[in-house]
Amino acid sequence: MGVVKKICCIGAGYVGGPTCAVIAHQCPDIKVTIVDLSQARINAWNSNNLPIYEPGLDEIVFGARGKNLFFSTDVEGAILEADLIFVSVNTPTKKSGMGAGMAADLAYVESATRKIAEVAKSSKIVVEKSTVPCRTAESMRTILDANSHDHIRFDLLSNPEFLAEGTAISDLLNPDRVLIGALQTPEGLKAQQALAEVYSHWVPRDRVITTNLWSSELSKLAANALLAQRISSINALSAICEATGADVDEVAYAVGKDTRIGPKFLKASVGFGGSCFQKDILNLTYLAESLNLPEVAAYWHQVVIMNEYQKKRFVKRIITKLFNTITNKKIAVFGFAFKKDTGDTRESAAITLIKDFIDEHAHVRLYDPKVEESQIWIDLSDVSGADAAKKHVTLFPDPYSAAEDADAVVIVTEWDEFRDTKLDYQRIYDSMKKPACIFDGRLILDANKLRKIGFKVDVIGKNELAGKA
Ligand code: NAD
Ligand code: UDX
Repeated sequence: MGVVKKICCIGAGYVGGPTCAVIAHQCPDIKVTIVDLSQARINAWNSNNLPIYEPGLDEIVFGARGKNLFFSTDVEGAILEADLIFVSVNTPTKKSGMGAGMAADLAYVESATRKIAEVAKSSKIVVEKSTVPCRTAESMRTILDANSHDHIRFDLLSNPEFLAEGTAISDLLNPDRVLIGALQTPEGLKAQQALAEVYSHWVPRDRVITTNLWSSELSKLAANALLAQRISSINALSAICEATGADVDEVAYAVGKDTRIGPKFLKASVGFGGSCFQKDILNLTYLAESLNLPEVAAYWHQVVIMNEYQKKRFVKRIITKLFNTITNKKIAVFGFAFKKDTGDTRESAAITLIKDFIDEHAHVRLYDPKVEESQIWIDLSDVSGADAAKKHVTLFPDPYSAAEDADAVVIVTEWDEFRDTKLDYQRIYDSMKKPACIFDGRLILDANKLRKIGFKVDVIGKNELAGKA
């Protein structure tokens, strides 16, 4: 395969959409077609109201769409004409059958792969963009080879995506690294080179790492496992801080100053969410179990167990501080997305917390600046049932109305607009039931400032003894 001129991306989701839109934006000489089975999703990509919220995405898409960037449901047409095909479909945790609750569901990867084999009439580079268990490329190759038309060659690459939601566009424009794994054969290396050429339009060559296929696949799981492990580690320390009077922000700062540790991903929180961390660690755990490495599996699984513990601990603390009952109390929840600057709610800590509040018969008054209302009802109905969700949860258009007459405010997502430099917390205090309590699950508030207003303030990883003898 020589120079790549036409790219097809199968899967117009949080990864396929932004990633291939940036490729189109940076490579005007390449035609990029992003395809999906969902007509609604493709319609949204072709409209002025894109299906995902991501800072900077509109400009990139609107700048290239219709020129060298196209969104379509014509999967076959796009496969036929492409030199290189990204497979960027979802790989969720399996819900039933063998490995349920742990293994990645590879059904979407397999059906996309079968479609490529069935349709392709010329040789293609097929790139795993989805996060997959180690050695998935082998299965894809077997499917391709067994089902393809005669004389068609498929070269498989692994090119995992490291973007984080909320910062996807800057991550893609300026990546720490781009990883491309290939079989160490002359053809594999040639395909690896062809994809490296695409990225070289804007990524410095020394940031394009080339490895063998299996290292590339495993590196993606390893990166997410190590990042999530840091959060669970600081969250485990936050429990010790609360019990002792140490301040978790001070501890994170002090340890992060060690250049061997570094400061990033040490922000204590109500627990990590998002579509990747839990799924990928469970995937890694399952892989270790399948390889008969139970100690390795248990080690990584503990990161997820600690994350669940952190969410439960926070709920317990809220109930305890609200005089051991929240039945019929009004709890204002600020934020539903799994992190700021995204409308994505997958595995958001807010879902678990609100389910627990509903189980305790509290009345939840919810505000989030970006999450679609319909998505909130889908998520809450999933965990609590539609009737209980509707009975116990009310959505509000702004934080002030959500907090009115509430017993407590709970900060769940770290949206900038919830900071005490942005919101009028005096106004919020005045409208709340007294004692007015505020629980900061994201460490974004100045507790002393709020205490001066009159709030009872509770922050993850801090206790009121902090700073006292
Ligand atoms: P997503 O659910 O947002 O998008 C996947 C899309 O693929 C959906 O629109 C679905 O309709 C489509 N699809 C599924 N099967 C198809 C088929 N056979 N043909 C055409 N379209 C098909 O998922 P996502 O968040 O974009 O994640 C995609 C992959 O990237 C996953 O493996 C994920 O682990 C990985 N990843 C995600 C992120 C992230 O931040 N979301 C970051 C890095 C890696
Ligand atoms: C993650 C990885 O960062 C990214 O490289 C990979 O490609 C996909 O998975 P994402 O899940 O989009 O990205 O966001 P991330 O910023 O990693 O945050 C994940 C969760 O951890 C969020 O709920 C966030 O609030 C939480 N978090 C993050 C913390 O609680 N503390 C931190 O210090 C950092």
